[in-house]
Amino acid sequence: MGIKILGTGCYLPDQKLTNNDFTKFVDTNDEWIRTRTGIAERRMAGWEPVWYMGSEAARQAIAQAGIAPEDIGLVIAASATNDFHTPSIACLVQHETGAVNAAAFDVNAACSGFVYALDTARRFLETDTGMKYVLIVAAEALSRFLDFGDRSSCILFGDGAAAAVIERSDKPFTSALGADGSGGRLLYARSVGVAEEIKVEHEFDDGFPEKRLHKLYQDGREVYKFATKALPKAFHLAADKAGITPEDIDWFVPHQANIRIIETAAKNLGAPMEKFIVTLDHYGNTSSVSIPLALHESIEKGVIKRGQKLALIGFGAGLTYAGAIFEY
Ligand code: UT7
Repeated sequence: MGIKILGTGCYLPDQKLTNNDFTKFVDTNDEWIRTRTGIAERRMAGWEPVWYMGSEAARQAIAQAGIAPEDIGLVIAASATNDFHTPSIACLVQHETGAVNAAAFDVNAACSGFVYALDTARRFLETDTGMKYVLIVAAEALSRFLDFGDRSSCILFGDGAAAAVIERSDKPFTSALGADGSGGRLLYARSVGVAEEIKVEHEFDDGFPEKRLHKLYQDGREVYKFATKALPKAFHLAADKAGITPEDIDWFVPHQANIRIIETAAKNLGAPMEKFIVTLDHYGNTSSVSIPLALHESIEKGVIKRGQKLALIGFGAGLTYAGAIFEY
């Protein structure tokens, strides 16, 4: 049993930060950022809470799907930057969209979150035959967790939200989820309260390099190494289950972290770059949002068409990786 994407949506904050804007607070330049990452600009949430951005994206996806929100059986929200420890973003989106009959929960698999949620949604649709539709929402405000004094990480990320409404279909669907928790200390942001505790606490070393902040810490080089292997691995783990090869894929929709990571993945997969959707130049790395946002934008532009075979491949903090292959 597979899934069909009925509708997609997105929300992007108005505020844009160009590479040149960063030169006001860190020692960097447009040329370095473009050549090392491929990013030119990104959106920054101002007043918008994460749940609000997610709800707006969800409303658009529901309208595009042409379904009644009451018929949604489950809302799954993917985020690493929730406004609250509790409630979940999914509960707030459920209320905002009128999905009154839906169960609701969040997944945190960082940048792999949307693919984790898609895999989870398919399993629900398969086992709960009374469930008609699942709403998946990815929403992030990375900017609230960035250390704007750290030039190697603050220039990478952007904010926004994207959503998809899915139903079951008889078309093939294959997926694979994975994690390597030994890399948990390579990319993280502490919860605020915990950061305060660690500051006053003394002897305890939890092995996380940055003790003081609840801001994002990243060992860029190590994450880069992981990422270049994780994307092809996510594809092959999913593809091998159904004897699919890269030639069978019309569009790869990879996590949008760094153009060099995508180029290396393309090379390792033996697939041409022309088959890879790239949006990071104008949105930066939006974590769990990056894959559904790239999907939504490409569908809107008519690049991705019905009947084409897609491979969504992601990696992220955790460390996590995930792949899903299906027909749009
Ligand atoms: O979804 C989350 C996943 N995260 C990622 O995918 C990030 C993966 N990592 C990367 O994309 C890259 O490692 C970075 C873009 C973060 C860094 O690129 P890099 O080519 O690995 O650079 P580097 O860390 O090796 O640094 C090279 C130099 C250093 O200077 P020195 O030590 O050679 O003098 C850095 O201090 O570049 C310097 N540098 C910068 N220079 C100008 C680092 N950031 C900047 C900057 N502007 N923004």
